[in-house]
Amino acid sequence: METHRWGAVVCHRRFGKTVCAVNHLQKCAMRATRERPRFAYIAPTYKQAKAVTWDYVKHFAQPVLDHDVNESELRVDFAQNASQVRLFGADNPDSLRGMYFDGVVLDEYGLMPPKTFSEVVRPMLSDRGGWALFMGTPNGKNQFYNVVQQARDDPDWFFAEYKASQTGVLSAEELASARQVMTADEYQQEYECSFEASVKGAIYARELIQAREQGRMTRIPYDPAVLVDTDWDLGFGDLTAVWFSQTFPTGEVRLIDYAEAAEGLPYFVSLLRGKGYAYGDHWAPHDIALKEMSGNSRLQASRQLGLNFLISPKVERIEDGIHAVRMLLPRCWFEADRCRDGLEALHNYRWKVPNVQDPTGRPLPVHDWASHGSDAFRGLAYRHYVKRRRPQEDLRRLQIDHDPDDRITSGRHIGRRIGIAGRVGRRGGY
Ligand SMILES: Nc1ncnc2c1ncn2[C@@H]1O[C@H](COP(=O)(O)OP(=O)(O)OP(=O)(O)O)[C@@H](O)[C@H]1O
Ligand SMILES: [Mg+2]
Repeated sequence: METHRWGAVVCHRRFGKTVCAVNHLQKCAMRATRERPRFAYIAPTYKQAKAVTWDYVKHFAQPVLDHDVNESELRVDFAQNASQVRLFGADNPDSLRGMYFDGVVLDEYGLMPPKTFSEVVRPMLSDRGGWALFMGTPNGKNQFYNVVQQARDDPDWFFAEYKASQTGVLSAEELASARQVMTADEYQQEYECSFEASVKGAIYARELIQAREQGRMTRIPYDPAVLVDTDWDLGFGDLTAVWFSQTFPTGEVRLIDYAEAAEGLPYFVSLLRGKGYAYGDHWAPHDIALKEMSGNSRLQASRQLGLNFLISPKVERIEDGIHAVRMLLPRCWFEADRCRDGLEALHNYRWKVPNVQDPTGRPLPVHDWASHGSDAFRGLAYRHYVKRRRPQEDLRRLQIDHDPDDRITSGRHIGRRIGIAGRVGRRGGY
């Protein structure tokens, strides 16, 4: 690992990845010779870093420390060379901004938002020519899979793979007992490092496989004859996700583009403008009308930016929304390149613990990076679903009835704004 700048290690469950990561970072920190060396360990969530890794860090650092660790920042400082090892969660990329690193381990990289490395971590390695080590157990063909593919073939990368049948870390009895309670796919994924097995508990697995097999994830040109609608999931301090779709009279829905970023509305307004599509309706979830601390709602803020949102029909029960997605997916075509991140989110949207009900008797999806793109898509599917169920009603009007809170918007909904800067045919602005 020390002779390569980039490394990928695929390991079976309980192999000792996290312990290895912690010790590798600590060793590098203690031996670093540059000024104020900085090393980072990144887990998919801050909570995981704190719950699991922090104990390991303290355990392995204690023998060489003569002072306390920094509990609030999950950080150890080594006095002899002013180096630090600090723990982070990929669910809070902002906590990393502004830092530099000599080396970073991304533990369970496959469970992080797909752009964690390229957008957040990679730039932080630039000042120092820092290294990165990607570790994990496979969980489908995601960004970890991509890195592993590259590492296997590229001599500039360190690569290692540890399957339970080869390492001897877990006893034969333990493996046999695990096999009994797991499906063959699950066992292959968790213990034999297989990327082929699908994401465990994936909610839309069947529909997405079908779409791929039927060739509905492909190149799709933008058809200027049909207006582009957008469906949003608005992040409050985290990711905002937007699907761009064109709905044809045949009922076919073409997903021609997707965007996500931890940015505010002004960013998205210029992004929408930059794409140059002729837009139809912009649909936002109902919480956009909630008043914020400032006393204004996001609906008002977005209107000031020239973006006139309609409010998607409220999904009362999450399973109704999921059902609507399953009904819609067979009619969907995806522009595979531009929708890659959105499709990644749909692929990774999964049940908390498959087949196990929560105490109220309802299974719930995991809330993580994949929820944003999936929630936005659920809004899209649900408005199609409601419209199909009640075809005679105009969704916009329906919405107005259900949205007494915001009379001004309602007026605009009815009036359908025409165009900005004289461009006719743009209903929601931009
Ligand atoms: N080099 C080692 N020698 C002995 N025991 C180890 C070693 N590395 C890890 N262990 C022990 O193995 C267990 C699993 O370690 P660790 O949590 O690092 O595994 P992991 O691969 O990260 O597991 P998971 O797949 O659950 O994330 C722990 O009890 C740990 O103390
Ligand atoms: Mg681990």
